[in-house]
Amino acid sequence: MANYDVIVIGSGPGGYVAAIRCAQLGLKTACVEGRETLGGTCLNVGCIPSKALLHASHQLHEAEHNFAKMGLKGKSPTVDWPQMLAYKNDVISQNTKGIEFLFKKNKVDWLKGWGTIPAAGKVQVGEEIHETKNIIIASGSTPASVPGAEVTIDEKIVVTSTGALELGKIPKKMVVIGAGVIGLEMGSVYARLGTEVHVVEFLDHITPGMDGEVQKTFLRLLKRQGMNFTLGAAVQKVETLKTKAKVTYKLRKNDAEATMDADVVLVATGRKPYTDGLGLQALGVQMSPRGQIQTDAQWRTNVPGIYAIGDCIDGPMLAHKAEDEGMATAEVIAGKHGHVNYNVIPGVIYTHPEVANVGATEEQLKQEGQAYKVGKFSFMGNGRAKAVFAGEGFVKILADKTTDRILGAHIIGPAAGDLIHEICVAMEFGASAEDLALTCHAHPTYSEAVREAALACGDGPIHM
Ligand code: FAD
Ligand code: NAI
Repeated sequence: MANYDVIVIGSGPGGYVAAIRCAQLGLKTACVEGRETLGGTCLNVGCIPSKALLHASHQLHEAEHNFAKMGLKGKSPTVDWPQMLAYKNDVISQNTKGIEFLFKKNKVDWLKGWGTIPAAGKVQVGEEIHETKNIIIASGSTPASVPGAEVTIDEKIVVTSTGALELGKIPKKMVVIGAGVIGLEMGSVYARLGTEVHVVEFLDHITPGMDGEVQKTFLRLLKRQGMNFTLGAAVQKVETLKTKAKVTYKLRKNDAEATMDADVVLVATGRKPYTDGLGLQALGVQMSPRGQIQTDAQWRTNVPGIYAIGDCIDGPMLAHKAEDEGMATAEVIAGKHGHVNYNVIPGVIYTHPEVANVGATEEQLKQEGQAYKVGKFSFMGNGRAKAVFAGEGFVKILADKTTDRILGAHIIGPAAGDLIHEICVAMEFGASAEDLALTCHAHPTYSEAVREAALACGDGPIHM
């Protein structure tokens, strides 16, 4: 048994960042993790492995579609799937070991096992009970099933993202349920590897919550890459038939029922907070009807000394949102000022092209009755993008009609996930579109398209 200032439960991006920041601030800190390796969903079965497979499959796509155009002739590579998985596992291992190193460097104790909270100020791991002044719950999330449908997930034929990252072989045909972030990223991976991918989505559009124009362009580009979509379809059941599965869905417009067979069905209909085994009910910790731990603006639960962050509380289920909450909670516990600006949290989809957004969408601004202007610039007018066959897509900046202050931005195109941060910084400083437009941007870069979109909020872009 040991006494700590802080025990963090969960070592995902929320938990490990909170633990390191607490230690940096001079607090004696431990982090409890039940998995074999540190890093949570993100490093083990989420962000990192999916990006490794997206990267590898994108290289194949480039070889198949663009190499010859640049005079790089010869046969395209063939796919050695076990080796691709080994590469992905190596990337995971490098990252999870990196967190182990950071824990040692910062003197954070890793308490191995599943933690419970028998009382405020105590965390039990196995037989041992540790005393602590503060507890941060960062227990993350798990995949949700298909609401209202009969589905049994076996992680082989009917899989969540976890099984999709580890399939025994590349399926001939895959049905993806849900055209959200996971469905489109993992669907892209398999479509590039030669799988016939069908996405079945409940709504009439893909990627709910995203800017409408981006949704339409994104759908068009994914279709052109060979992905198939059935929108406005409510999945009723998924049956497993020996080595295949059958998906039954109803079209919402006319209630017509249809079925689709597949070698693999990926269920990608969202994630839910994971708080099992923590003993929160007995402690009287307040939960939302959706199973999230309720906190105040400084991540305190209603039980003194217990905080919660990341996917197990309200807000977007994103690694960087969890990290920011982890850092801010550490500051609060250390008696400093912890703050997260929820208006400036970027979202990125790592398909090709990438899709990124921050702040308000046009639909939101219309609904709020806010007067705004739109500055849009196509990557077709960007020399660098055209040189690398990446002229599809655009940058769209939304600015206040009167003050020119940037309210949101939406990018679909090359390196969108990096470009968006220029706009995040601008928004944090309360910048106007003109501030961006007056900033010198190196040529030839993709970021010139951001400047041109900012110019389009004023007198107009130069290269369009
Ligand atoms: P988690 O990462 O879920 O970590 C929680 C940890 O707590 C787990 O390791 C769990 O074992 C541990 N734990 C839980 N209960 C206990 C207990 N009682 N005792 C001990 N340990 C416990 N987000 C992005 O921002 N970018 C991406 O590109 C991205 N890609 C993703 C791809 C996929 C396929 C998936 C599934 C998710 C992706 N996400 C991405 C979302 C991201 O992974 C999560 O938002 C993020 O991991 C949340 O961090 P967290 O610290 O709250 O929880
Ligand atoms: P999601 O919420 O992004 O998408 C789920 C989709 O499933 C929605 O489009 C929804 O309308 C649809 N759906 C729900 N019920 C359905 C039904 N019965 N039939 C058909 N469609 C149905 O959830 P997803 O993709 O599972 O991702 C979970 C979380 O993981 C997200 O919150 C996301 O933030 C995070 N994530 C982030 C990534 C990134 O930042 N690049 C990558 C992967 C995941």
